[in-house]
Amino acid sequence: MAACGGAYSPQTRRKYFISGPQWAAAYQGQALFHAPTRKPIGFERVIEEYAKIGIGHWAAHDTDVIPTEALGTEEQSAIVSRIQSALQKNGLDCSMVTTETFYHAVWAASPAAEAPEVRDYAAFRVENTVRIGHELGAQFAVYWPGSLGYYVQGAIDETETLRWYAGALNAACEADIRIAKEKNRPTLKHCLEAKPFEPQAEILLPTSDAMLGFIGSGLLTHPEMVGLNPEYLHELMWGAAPRAALARALLADKLWHFDINDGYRLKHDVDIAVGLVNPLDWLNVLVLLRSHGYNGPFNLDYKPPRTTSAVSFPTAVDRFITLWEMAGEVMSDGIIKEATDALKAGGGAVGSKDAGAIAAANRELLTLHELIAHRLVQILLGLHRGRTYSV
Ligand code: GLC
Ligand code: MN
Ligand code: MN
Repeated sequence: MAACGGAYSPQTRRKYFISGPQWAAAYQGQALFHAPTRKPIGFERVIEEYAKIGIGHWAAHDTDVIPTEALGTEEQSAIVSRIQSALQKNGLDCSMVTTETFYHAVWAASPAAEAPEVRDYAAFRVENTVRIGHELGAQFAVYWPGSLGYYVQGAIDETETLRWYAGALNAACEADIRIAKEKNRPTLKHCLEAKPFEPQAEILLPTSDAMLGFIGSGLLTHPEMVGLNPEYLHELMWGAAPRAALARALLADKLWHFDINDGYRLKHDVDIAVGLVNPLDWLNVLVLLRSHGYNGPFNLDYKPPRTTSAVSFPTAVDRFITLWEMAGEVMSDGIIKEATDALKAGGGAVGSKDAGAIAAANRELLTLHELIAHRLVQILLGLHRGRTYSV
């Protein structure tokens, strides 16, 4: 890493709203066909390491840090106090909390199962997470309903399941309003995260767009408290253009939290670190977010490789910072600006509704789309600063 150069200091890294999830740093290397390759590590160690790197915000699932049996008990309070001291000692804050509704056997039929006791338990779990969030000073709660679906079709009525799922979110929002009042804090921002497949075979809310529809469906008692946490790779997984998916969330005013990583289209959830697969698309994504004033967290939701970890987090953070700063450069680039202005000025009024004449007047102008794309690649590769490769 020292030989690579181009790294930022921990102080610089802390200036960005970058959050490190407990589960990413504590990832043991396991997957469906992979045995764990690393030993478990606890939150004290993760928070300490994040502080050293310069990751200023921490996030966790309830059961990343509290054993399932201890949720809602005295043991939970003791663990929460230990988290508070670890955060304080290392100068981090907790930005987000999330409820694990996919790992434990209780979620086999999803948090919106037919059995009422499962749904009551789901409500308890999300309310309890909201309470933990307030105790740790979080601003966001995330929900990834990856178990909301089925393997075999026809047994459930999807509309009923979605109503039941809305019931859990309503319980979370209502508890939030009560607890926030009690603690004199603002309510949390509740963010839904979509993934098109895994772990269920068919997922009821597979995309951010499906979730926007769900938020506006009338099933939520507090739709204004519920927004989105898109994950870059989860949009690519269904073949979306991530920028377009994010644009739709921006237009709905629901882009509140963003999971950053990378991977391949129409493949499984490999959670590769940001910018290693699609750096040009990432640059374009960040131009969009910067130009629309997105100010929520960038959550490093990726998995370090099974065999290594030492370089993984610092390099992921540094690639993000570089791409973010490059996005600023794109926004003030004179050539891109001139080309964009020319495109918007149009080919000139041809004074009629003659489709052929309008097309002819615009034909050459549209070559500026490619010129802009060329310029973006130049900026990404540093060619705009005079770097060439001819011999
Ligand atoms: C799981 C998912 C991840 C999601 C997180 C939040 O770890 O794999 O994508 O962001 O849960 O609930
Ligand atoms: Mn995610
Ligand atoms: Mn993922």
